[in-house]
Amino acid sequence: MGNSASKRLMTEKKLRKKKSRARSLSNRSNKSNKSNNNNTQSLNSISSFESNSDCGSITSSNIYIPKESDISRSIAHNIAMNKLFGCAYSSPIEEFLTMTGKILDVGCGSGTWLIEMAHMYPKPEYFGIDLNPCTTIPYPSNTKIIKGNLLNLPYDENQFDFVRMSDFVTEFTDNEWEQSIAEMIRVTKPGGWIEFCEADLVSPENAPTFSKFLKSFTECLILRGVNCTITTKLEYLLYSTKQVEDIQCTVKPVIFGNKGGFIGTTTFDNFTSWFNDDVCIEMVADHMGITQDEYKKLWAIVENETIIDSVSTKFYRFWAQKKYE
Ligand SMILES: C[S@@+](CC[C@H](N)C(=O)[O-])C[C@H]1O[C@@H](n2cnc3c(N)ncnc32)[C@H](O)[C@@H]1O
Repeated sequence: MGNSASKRLMTEKKLRKKKSRARSLSNRSNKSNKSNNNNTQSLNSISSFESNSDCGSITSSNIYIPKESDISRSIAHNIAMNKLFGCAYSSPIEEFLTMTGKILDVGCGSGTWLIEMAHMYPKPEYFGIDLNPCTTIPYPSNTKIIKGNLLNLPYDENQFDFVRMSDFVTEFTDNEWEQSIAEMIRVTKPGGWIEFCEADLVSPENAPTFSKFLKSFTECLILRGVNCTITTKLEYLLYSTKQVEDIQCTVKPVIFGNKGGFIGTTTFDNFTSWFNDDVCIEMVADHMGITQDEYKKLWAIVENETIIDSVSTKFYRFWAQKKYE
């Protein structure tokens, strides 16, 4: 999940206060327009991002580029998710992986998932698209990552055997979810698979202080149009397209902190960096009606809750096959 949500919060703030210190994505329409332009601009081979000196900065187009620490968190998160689900994917795609398939990760971020897959299964071709692709890790030669908008994928229809997306629960409005699913299905071959992996941010049972944070955070996002309750509704969204079948889901709980082992500590580390991002602190503290100091003290209580209480979330994977017409 990284700090995408706080980026969106910052965007709101930037629009409101017009402060240049904001490091988030610019407003949504600008984002789309710029990305549409980027769609025509072809990709840089992955290796061109290896020494991306923009990492951790704001580009001239005012788009936030992840810092190296974001990337290492993304790597750890990816490893944790693979361990949690027992595999990097849940769809039955072995035949595409052992032969020459075409695999696409939309909103691939640092490309961690693609890199791991390309090393494990070198035969397919791997593609990634992100508004801000950035990594310091060398990409395998069978992997191409481009800058572009997944809401308007620059690929012809029926191109890919497997299309996946992960960690967008804090990113999209309802319309954007519908559009992204439609685009993913469009570029998937009939008989190919699409897959999602998302956290549930609205689990009802949790330790009290962490619940307070989650509630305020999700309220901030909802006020800005983001549907952060989407995770449990993805199955219905897929079903409503009438273009996919064999929709399946698996749900895995994660206990935060040491009690949850590597997956628990990695996930809590992610949430901690996310909730302690400057912009997130400012926005959520404001929403909670407390000072930033009080906010930080409250987060220290959450850390304690992971030891004495139970702090958790659930991760969902959904996958479905594109119908043969
Ligand atoms: C939270 S990160 C998830 C990255 C990756 N999927 C993962 O699981 O590590 C969300 C990513 O989506 C990208 N993103 C957001 N909106 C996008 C859009 N409309 N088109 C392409 N990428 C987008 C962001 O730049 C960011 O890298």
